[in-house]
Amino acid sequence: MVDGALAPFYLTTPIYYVNDVPHIGHAYTTLACDAIARFWRLDGRAVHFLTGTDEHGQKIQRAAALQGIDPQVFCDRVSQNFRDLAQTMNYSIDDFIRTTEPRHKTAVQAIWRKLLDAGAIYEDTYKGWYSVRDEAYFDVDELQPGPDGTRLAPTGAPVEWVEEPSFFFRLSAYGDRLLEHYDNNPDFILPRGRRNEVVSFVKGGLRDLSISRASISWGVPVPDVPGHTVYVWLDALTNYLTALGYPAIDEAQFRRWWPADLHMIGKDIIRFHAVYWPAFLMAAELPIPKRVFAHGWWTNEGQKISKSLGNVIDPTQLVATYGLDQTRYFLLREVPFGQDGDFSHRAMVARINSDLANDLGNLAQRTLSQIARNCAGKVPQPGPLSAADEALLDSVDTLLDELRTAFEGQEIHLALTRLWAMIGDTNGYIAREAPWSLKKTDPARMATVLWVTAEAIRQFAILVQPVMPGAGAALLDQLGQGPESRTFDSLGVKGRLAADTPLPPPQGVFPRFVEEA
Ligand code: MSP
Repeated sequence: MVDGALAPFYLTTPIYYVNDVPHIGHAYTTLACDAIARFWRLDGRAVHFLTGTDEHGQKIQRAAALQGIDPQVFCDRVSQNFRDLAQTMNYSIDDFIRTTEPRHKTAVQAIWRKLLDAGAIYEDTYKGWYSVRDEAYFDVDELQPGPDGTRLAPTGAPVEWVEEPSFFFRLSAYGDRLLEHYDNNPDFILPRGRRNEVVSFVKGGLRDLSISRASISWGVPVPDVPGHTVYVWLDALTNYLTALGYPAIDEAQFRRWWPADLHMIGKDIIRFHAVYWPAFLMAAELPIPKRVFAHGWWTNEGQKISKSLGNVIDPTQLVATYGLDQTRYFLLREVPFGQDGDFSHRAMVARINSDLANDLGNLAQRTLSQIARNCAGKVPQPGPLSAADEALLDSVDTLLDELRTAFEGQEIHLALTRLWAMIGDTNGYIAREAPWSLKKTDPARMATVLWVTAEAIRQFAILVQPVMPGAGAALLDQLGQGPESRTFDSLGVKGRLAADTPLPPPQGVFPRFVEEA
């Protein structure tokens, strides 16, 4: 497949606040995107995969002040941690955006002017509640009582009273158009439960949104109005356009990637992406992204993850303890993508030992070591295929179509479940055919069974690459498959293992996790 022959795919992660060190929640959103980006690239699509850091606003201004550091120096430092995480987790990002970059300031000011020209902005005074932790405004009836007569946002964050001159966006004028958009595009917001939440929020009536802050200096200046900075969410959301060169756009290049195919986010920030963002884009006369997918939240051994509880999971630590591909596999397999999930050491070890070491690892190790011992270390020459051989290979050959369907709906767990069901079938096949007992009685049949099994493993190795790039590559190395034979183009009959290909000595790819005494 020629690069880009299929529709190009632009996907984004949220940009991460730099007030915090990266934790499992951040790692998870980008990991899911990485698996999706790798899947479509292997399928021959041109992919643009964007992530980055969200560096303006009151929360960051305060975090820097608390440490007595200049905000830019503070942002430079913390942003680097997110870049480092991309290395640690083996993310295949195409661009890393920072909202303090000059290219972004230009884009934010350009979209501001677009909204202004469209008559969507007016000046007034903001009087109301603001949560710095969420960087969000709340109506009084959304708040809940906190300790000592204080009030809390629905997220549990403290709120502060804000009263200052502000520019407003006419969000209230976009309710009907938004509802129409959700109706006409039933898959715009996934999973479905989230969509229903957004629809009822919009049906409840939208209030105009304050989009500038007069008391916050750490932000993009509102064009031509000294003393105001752009509200951090309008600033942050615009990053998805900045990365395509907006506003100085090469029209053809821009249309190639925009509207974005997928904004991946966590469930906590759906309102910003599925209500405010499309409304801003409608006002700026830009097309609406094709999908916003909101995944669930992780807990740690049953507990909410929070700094005050001291149970934050450091992804770098997970990788050091369990291995990179093991961590990637666990996070994407353990929980149906879109639902909340719980991290536990026990569940992690169970996945590593059962799915990886036993199911896939043993299958590969058993097959490859028999080939090394009994077939002179070369891919065996198959004889005529039995009905069982044909049935197994036919099912393996249909995996790609099934995985495509799963990935089209961001059902990454289903792709893995399907793949592992097939790995299970292959283990059943080899147990029934027992090539080890054919060595003396029927070496030709033994060669056929080992070839069929190795061919199935070849396809599994290609298909696990989006989730476990390292392990997939290691298996393909052991099957003598070079870089030109690793994309989805090589799946199925086209790429069948060639007899007599010399193979390197087999090596285990998935060690068991052994508890230290
Ligand atoms: N800066 C905003 C996003 C702006 S996008 C234009 C932001 N940043 S964040 O750093 O607070 O969060 C980024 C992502 O991490 C969110 O998608 C959020 O859902 C995710 N997670 C944070 N904690 C999480 C868990 N415990 N579990 C799973 N994901 C969670 O919001």
